[in-house]
Amino acid sequence: MLKVTDLHVNYGGIKAVKGISFEVPDGEVVTLIGANGAGKSTTLKTIAGLIKPSAGTIEFNGEDITGKNTTDIVRMGITLVPEGRRIFPDLTVLENLKIGAYLRNDDIKEDINWVYGIFPRLKEREWQEGGTLSGGEQQMLAVARALMSRPKLMMMDEPSLGLSPIFVNEIFKVINTIRARGVTILLIEQNANMALRTADYGYVMDTGEITIAGTGEELSGNEQVKKAYLGG
Ligand SMILES: Nc1ncnc2c1ncn2[C@@H]1O[C@H](COP(=O)(O)OP(=O)(O)O)[C@@H](O)[C@H]1O
Ligand SMILES: [Mg+2]
Repeated sequence: MLKVTDLHVNYGGIKAVKGISFEVPDGEVVTLIGANGAGKSTTLKTIAGLIKPSAGTIEFNGEDITGKNTTDIVRMGITLVPEGRRIFPDLTVLENLKIGAYLRNDDIKEDINWVYGIFPRLKEREWQEGGTLSGGEQQMLAVARALMSRPKLMMMDEPSLGLSPIFVNEIFKVINTIRARGVTILLIEQNANMALRTADYGYVMDTGEITIAGTGEELSGNEQVKKAYLGG
């Protein structure tokens, strides 16, 4: 579904991504793990069209989307849940969800019901302002809002960051539910343990390069990965 080939991304003179290649097959969960500063967020932002790469190609379902703008990329079916759950605190849950569907003019009622099916708690809090939700609920709302664009590929940047263990578990449950509903997922995580348990395939990024690749199971059992990312 997504094919990234020899992608390079620079911030001025800083080389943040140095020629990475990876694939996300239709219907799977693929994870990019790696330390802070490895270039994971830069990679997702580049796929989402927020940053232009200096070299390389990004193909989505066989079409070259390298350098396209964000609006076109969302229209094609790719969405990004950015780091730090940026919801609108003064808008209600329902209003936040409606904003997620802003590129569409068809009836969104069905989609709102679809996401409420995945996040029953948001339905209960429909009229509550986003800012009054707990951190975990705000993350759920950010994911739900991204789903309102009816993506084929959902990219998530550290969805479990800063959440209590209960919500971390819930986020990973939600990832499985979303996959079961036919959405392909590219997941960035510092919680490598959970990410590798959930993902079909994973890539380890280190200072702008992919150093190790394998199935979630292979990476979980890899000595180097265990030492560097799984706490021994
Ligand atoms: N807006 C920016 N301007 C300059 N350098 C940046 C910017 N964003 C990220 N970087 C640098 O690019 C590298 C990769 O960052 P990032 O993609 O955020 O890594 P990760 O998400 O893996 O923590 C880091 O060295 C970081 O300092
Ligand atoms: Mg990041």
